[in-house]
Amino acid sequence: CAVAVLVVRRRMQSSGKWGRVSAILKAFEEDCATPISKLRQVADAMAVEMHAGLASDGGSKLKMLISYVDNLPSGDEKGLFYALDLGGTNFRVMRVLLGGKQDRVAKQEFEEVSIPPHLMTGGSDELFNFIAEALAKFVATEGEDFHLPEGRQRELGFTFSFPVRQTSLSSGSLIKWTKGFSIDEAVGEDVVGALKKAMERVGLDMRVAALVNDTVGTLAGGRYYNPDVAAAVILGTGTNAAYVERATAIPKWHGPLPKSGEMVINMEWGNFRSSHLPLTEFDHTLDFESLNPGEQILEKIISGMYLGEILRRVLLKMAEEAAFFGDTVPSKLRIPFIIRTPHMSAMHNDTSPDLKIVGSKIKDILEVPTTSLKMRKVVISLCDIIATRGARLSAAGIYGILKKLGRDTTSKEEVQKSVIAMDGGLFEHYKQFSECMESSLKELLGDEASGTIEVIHSNDGSGIGAALLAASHSLYLEES
Ligand code: GLC
Repeated sequence: CAVAVLVVRRRMQSSGKWGRVSAILKAFEEDCATPISKLRQVADAMAVEMHAGLASDGGSKLKMLISYVDNLPSGDEKGLFYALDLGGTNFRVMRVLLGGKQDRVAKQEFEEVSIPPHLMTGGSDELFNFIAEALAKFVATEGEDFHLPEGRQRELGFTFSFPVRQTSLSSGSLIKWTKGFSIDEAVGEDVVGALKKAMERVGLDMRVAALVNDTVGTLAGGRYYNPDVAAAVILGTGTNAAYVERATAIPKWHGPLPKSGEMVINMEWGNFRSSHLPLTEFDHTLDFESLNPGEQILEKIISGMYLGEILRRVLLKMAEEAAFFGDTVPSKLRIPFIIRTPHMSAMHNDTSPDLKIVGSKIKDILEVPTTSLKMRKVVISLCDIIATRGARLSAAGIYGILKKLGRDTTSKEEVQKSVIAMDGGLFEHYKQFSECMESSLKELLGDEASGTIEVIHSNDGSGIGAALLAASHSLYLEES
């Protein structure tokens, strides 16, 4: 994926300012390198950790959480269901009218609300009140065409995209926060209990029928339309994967053997780490200064919350040590998270010959009025290095899952097709990233096996998936 870098570096003079810039760029590029041999090591380590995490709680950095979803949507689900999706910078409320195999999602409506940043690090009640209020407002706008049968309580699928130790499909306690959230008092708390209390406070009568991670929701939503979906991956603010495991391959599961013989596992792969991961000085300081030092290491080099921040850190070093922006360091460049991944993606995608978009982004974000073409090219190279590393490591993660499932080759007599349902802003909006991820996955699989693996975009699968799981665990199942 990264090709532009070498050319840019070669064109730089080897002394003075550009010599220093070139040296930083070169060292960074080397530290981020992901040759295929390294990706294979990462995939192997992922498969090993998957086994360890399934063997016992605490057996691995990979939590391999049991979702209690042992039955994926069949298409027969019917009726009105709500879904609530909390986990990124926005949160969503939606309602869907499910019409069975014939009509599928007959009607849907949603609203997206951005979460005020102070609520992500404030108190638990404040966050859950905010959510319940938004949900109550949304319920109040329900039209007659969504038709709820007389005397029936509304039901909700709650997508909560953080690691949760589930005690049933509709209950579980928060293990820890990730991404930009950090509300200490909520850790260990029953997530559904907290939501229920907030719903009572705002006078909303609704039953929480399912509590699911976004990866599990995406898997359910993907399977609803495509029976070959075997795993789901989120590449968004955070990153994670879920997949369908044989129940007998989960030694730590002591419950009854599900009829389907299967259980969906939420891997929480964002917390994966290994000596094979290419980590740089910038990753170490980013981690050290983060809300959750030492945690979510893979997430911190792959996902949307962090890519722009890595770029900022490298540019800051170039500004400080090589006068990249001239004699003074732009003060805005010292503000953590000021460069967001959508900015980075827009710059990376700049195809104009004079890289106009790069120039204008640098001007708007860092308040640097002018940049030379040479500087802009360096910025593009940095975007390329950072996105390529993230994309290739996500491909390695997916390859690790396929290996664990024995679906990475065509050597078996019966060739089984595997579809990976993907979602998340990074996957959806960062073209270079998703293209590089897909081509790296092909590279890992080889020509023949790539034919049996398909990556699909499961658009808002997690919301629909949660509604579907609420439907298949509805109190009123016989009636519908
Ligand atoms: C973080 C969360 C995980 C979620 C992922 C994607 O890694 O811990 O639960 O699935 O982000 O949103």
